[in-house]
Amino acid sequence: MEKTLVIIKPCALQRALTGEVIKRFEQKGLRLAGIKMMQLDDRILREHYAHLAERPFFQRIKDSMMITPVIVTCWEGKDAVKVVRAMTGSTNGRDAVPGTIRGDFSLSVQENIIHTSDSVETAAVELARFFSDDEIFAYNYQSLPFLYANDEI
Ligand code: PPS
Repeated sequence: MEKTLVIIKPCALQRALTGEVIKRFEQKGLRLAGIKMMQLDDRILREHYAHLAERPFFQRIKDSMMITPVIVTCWEGKDAVKVVRAMTGSTNGRDAVPGTIRGDFSLSVQENIIHTSDSVETAAVELARFFSDDEIFAYNYQSLPFLYANDEI
C-alpha cells in the first residue's frame, strides 16, 4: 500500500503537539511504518528544500528546521499521500481550514507544524532521504479488515 512522509517540525515539539499529530494519523487508520527523532543539518535540508533554494526565506526555513530535532514518520494506507495532505491543510496556517492539523494549530506559513509529501513520486524520494530500508517496517496490521472493504485493499 502507499506510503508517505510526515516530518513533525521543531515548532510542534516546542508546543508539545507531537502526540496530537501522531494521534490524528493513527485514528484515521493509517499504519505507522517508521518513526525516529533526527537532528537535521544543512546538507539534508539543502536537498529537501532544493526547490526553494532561490526563495528569500530559504535560510530562514533551514534555521527553523534545525533549531531542535524533528520527528520523521512514515505512514501507510490506501491513497496515503492524498489522505495525509488533506488532513494537513494549506501551507499557510492562517488559510488552513479548521479541522486540518495546520488549521487547528498554526498561524504561520513557516511554523506550520508538519511537512508532508505532496505526491506519490515525491513521497518515495523523501522517504529514501530520511529512512534507510531497515527503518521502514512491514508488520501485520490487524485492523485492516475493519478499515477497508476487501476490494479496497
Ligand atoms: S511554494 O512556495 O509553493 O513552493 O510552497 P510549498 O512547496 O507548499 O512549501 C514551501 C515550504 O517553505 C516553507 N516556507 C515558506 N513558504 C512560502 N512562503 C514563505 N514565506 C515561507 N517560509 C517558509 C513552508 O513552511 C513550506 O515548508 P514545508 O516543510 O514544505 O511545509
